Amino acid sequence: MAAPLGGKGAPHRPVLLDESLKFLVPERGGFFVDCTVGLGGHSEAILNASDKTRVLGIDRDPAALEYTRQRLASFGDRFKAVHANFNEVALLLSEAGESGPAGILADLGVSSLQFDSAERGFSFRFDAPLDMRMNPTTGETAADLLATLPEVELARIIFEFGEERHSRRIARRIVEQREQGQPITTTKELADLVLRAIGGGKWKQIHPATRTFQALRVAVNKELDELAQFVETSIDLLERDGRFVAISFHSLEDRIIKRELRRLSGQCQCPPRLPLCNCGARKAVEILTRRPITPGQAELDENPRARSAKLRAALKLTPKGVVN
Ligand SMILES: C[S@@+](CC[C@H](N)C(=O)[O-])C[C@H]1O[C@@H](n2cnc3c(N)ncnc32)[C@H](O)[C@@H]1O
Repeated sequence: MAAPLGGKGAPHRPVLLDESLKFLVPERGGFFVDCTVGLGGHSEAILNASDKTRVLGIDRDPAALEYTRQRLASFGDRFKAVHANFNEVALLLSEAGESGPAGILADLGVSSLQFDSAERGFSFRFDAPLDMRMNPTTGETAADLLATLPEVELARIIFEFGEERHSRRIARRIVEQREQGQPITTTKELADLVLRAIGGGKWKQIHPATRTFQALRVAVNKELDELAQFVETSIDLLERDGRFVAISFHSLEDRIIKRELRRLSGQCQCPPRLPLCNCGARKAVEILTRRPITPGQAELDENPRARSAKLRAALKLTPKGVVN
């Protein structure tokens, strides 16, 4: 497989790489879990930081894993890759006979391999079937959702996951088309439909279909389902002084991570008027990023796709079940 390219045709560069390493501190050695190994950029840097690091890479995209297994083969037994959903991280570690990772990284969102592969249907830059599954071996495609979901559900998805204020108009058009026996099945058909629906004749920086495409991708891949549980599970798995780093690309994702880390740092997240706390707040971590870390101008110039990235990090205090 040819080396995938990042934005502007530059070689793939992992988002917020230096910042991720600063919080993960891989130079101390140990076992790390890269829950979204993708093309292996972050994993490779962790492995290069010390010859005493080992990495388990997880990804639900078989194509990414195949590429990365080959690319990082020179690390031998220090790198292993497994095809799975990161929501299963606890089970994967126990199956691998591993416990107490020194660091867990989740660099959420789409990889450049997915975004730049026309046939995967993630991007309206190419005309292709509307698939958008990160794991193409299972689940419904974006075209399936457009063909089957009720109009109100489509509008909700486009509004909530895409923050698209014309969501109802777009959903109406999608349903009208399928009622006329012309369901939307390709990226180009959807991009054209969005332009027609919102009259996007004059647009400047961001194509008007971007938000609808993002919304569908989040829905197809159930990207927000179980994210809060994943954060808590990861924190519980870490060894004492272990580091958790999450990079998100979507405000809803970032909100979930922020809330979970605050709750796990002991800050109650219940609505203000609730007489008793029932959110389960407990002091398991210290938050290392008071505000999310975002890419600097130099990184954005090199990789415009990093523009919405936000990094949050936390330090594990006491392992679960251990009383200090
Ligand atoms: C932004 S890319 C990661 C890029 C990677 N850090 C690198 O340096 O190449 C995100 C990756 O996470 C994977 N992914 C997203 N959600 C996942 C999940 N729930 N379980 C496993 N992998 C997931 C995607 O398939 C994609 O390959």
